[in-house]
Amino acid sequence: SPSDPDLVARARAAKEKLGDKVFVLGHHYQRDEVIQFADVTGDSFKLARDAAARPEAEYIVFCGVHFMAESADILTSDEQKVVLPDLAAGCSMADMATAEQVAECWDVLSEAGVADQVVPVAYMNSSADIKAFTGKHGGTICTSSNAERALEWAFEQGQDPATTKILFLPDQHLGRNTAVRDLGMSLEDCVVYNPHKPNGGLTAERLRDARMILWRGHCSVHGRFSLESVEDVRARVPGVNVLVHPECKHEVVAAADLVGSTEYIIKTLEAAPRGSKWAIGTELNLVRRLANRFAEEDKEIVFLDRTVCFCSTMNRIDLPHLVWTLESLAEGTLVNRIEVDKETEDFAKLALERMLALP
Ligand code: 13P
Ligand code: SF4
Repeated sequence: SPSDPDLVARARAAKEKLGDKVFVLGHHYQRDEVIQFADVTGDSFKLARDAAARPEAEYIVFCGVHFMAESADILTSDEQKVVLPDLAAGCSMADMATAEQVAECWDVLSEAGVADQVVPVAYMNSSADIKAFTGKHGGTICTSSNAERALEWAFEQGQDPATTKILFLPDQHLGRNTAVRDLGMSLEDCVVYNPHKPNGGLTAERLRDARMILWRGHCSVHGRFSLESVEDVRARVPGVNVLVHPECKHEVVAAADLVGSTEYIIKTLEAAPRGSKWAIGTELNLVRRLANRFAEEDKEIVFLDRTVCFCSTMNRIDLPHLVWTLESLAEGTLVNRIEVDKETEDFAKLALERMLALP
């Protein structure tokens, strides 16, 4: 079983043997059995920064998903090896934008005569190829904790701020929520580019009028929270505060009390008064961990919608995979290395560094 005491002891022994040679990063959506071995936990912004701040570690074991490991590889030195304990831990949202589709989209924007007014902003949850495209075209990466500043920065990059547009990849919800909720834009300022339709399903005129061109991608976990989830929990738990991740749909975010990244969710609960009640709209491993942790402080934490389940790819990293990874490394066998090719890395790094430099 994954909580097998024998596996726990083996993970501990292998990690001890590796000492400072290994640094283990754990995203907040990881299982408890894995998180207990993380040297640092965080949201995707914090983990990208922390990976870059560990030059002495030969191995960075990334307990998270593929795009996070790629970003860590881009931000660390060539000598450092980034390892993903299960190579099948991808992200369905990141897979919704391929390099070919995005290149085709750029052609559509060029034909509509707007490409020179467009600054791309790619969510961290994207492949290294998409990050490289973004870097090449003068854009930046963002995460859920800095999307507002990233959009402000991008609008300032255009020649004429009044006609500048952002191509936001690949999460339409984070793009829309940030534009409307944080920047005060209207829903009409946003159009959705559908990579499965000719010309993205948009006319040249519509593209010219838009301020935000949102890629038609979404998170399969957060996309399942609905307005009814919010209404039901308010009816069920009187006085509840609804706190959701910005990958949720616009109507969910609009009905919530607070919105933010996983790190923000944790900080908010830490600062919450005793006796307060919270419904959290994000991945289940994190919500369960927080419910257990804060029960002692008399804070009641419930899952926003009991029909929503775990992120299946985050969950692929389990204790058996972590033990196998650490033991292999301790024996001198490099497994599951994530390595981005040089050309992609250079442009992707440019985009990631623009994000790290945001005020
Ligand atoms: P955070 O950056 O908020 O941790 O989110 C990452 C993610 O994958 C959310 O689904
Ligand atoms: Fe991707 Fe959603 Fe899972 Fe985050 S929760 S890794 S966005 S599928």
